[in-house]
Amino acid sequence: MGRPHLRALVLGAAAGGGLPQWNCGCEICAGARDPDNPILPQTQSSLAVSANGSDWALLNTSPDIRQQLADNPVLHPRQRRDTPISSVLLTNGDIDHIAGLLILREKQPFTVYLTSEIAKVIADNSIFSALDRSLVTFVEIGLEAPFQLAPGVEATLFAVPGKVPLFLEGDEVITDLEGEQTVGVSLRSGGEEFFYVPGCAKLTDALKERFQGANLIFFDGTVYDNEEMLKSAVGKKTGARMGHMAMNGANGSLQGFADLNVTRKIYIHINNTNPVWHPESAERLAVERAGWEIGYDGMEVSL
Ligand code: MLT
Ligand code: MN
Ligand code: ZN
Repeated sequence: MGRPHLRALVLGAAAGGGLPQWNCGCEICAGARDPDNPILPQTQSSLAVSANGSDWALLNTSPDIRQQLADNPVLHPRQRRDTPISSVLLTNGDIDHIAGLLILREKQPFTVYLTSEIAKVIADNSIFSALDRSLVTFVEIGLEAPFQLAPGVEATLFAVPGKVPLFLEGDEVITDLEGEQTVGVSLRSGGEEFFYVPGCAKLTDALKERFQGANLIFFDGTVYDNEEMLKSAVGKKTGARMGHMAMNGANGSLQGFADLNVTRKIYIHINNTNPVWHPESAERLAVERAGWEIGYDGMEVSL
């Protein structure tokens, strides 16, 4: 066997709701329902990572995980009762990132890595007792503390501005809280490193410093414009209110990454309202001109 190399497999490139979203008739969702339209359906936010090709960690478990596992043969059982999935890592407590745990309840051993804040969300929701704790082990990980996520894969969590999950929002919501409720991840193997940051409210100087010169990042692509949901008349929330920075604009990720010298920049967690889903939209051309790729279900990247 050669030296391990990191493989990242996009299981779901869309944000919560997926593409198309069940109750959305916007042009983009309608396009994704039309087999003759170039907009392809996409499932909800998740990435798989491996260094040896046989043991995989899931970065977030979406409600679409059952379809995602079916669609990706590297994640199929190799014998009668088996899974190549050795662990799961959660980057926040949002439904699109934790609900898939319930689909993994069939008496299979694996480890879930998460911060103490996210562990509280799981502990406070008794439905997660469906996971047999004699088989599924929850391990709390501190920020900036490297740990072994999967064979040959080392990971480190770091704080990213964000907010508490939607279902825990009180009357007042701080949308760019930095702590243990929203994290980004550095993944490393054999001297290679990449970042996974599916939710980020703001690109702080500390984050810029961390990402400067990186080989690869998967980054929050929820909305193109902060006010896109209002403009497409499907909702009232801004990207900022949802805890997601926009691609476009003075505080957007296109501008924020412009001088960071990151070799490969891939947007993931892309909302169904985001016009970059259309391969010929002006917005798609703008992000590609800025050196970004649009993630898609089944996309595989090796380092
Ligand atoms: C988000 O990323 O903003 C969440 O997925 C919203 C949700 O839980 O639906
Ligand atoms: Mn989400
Ligand atoms: Zn839509």
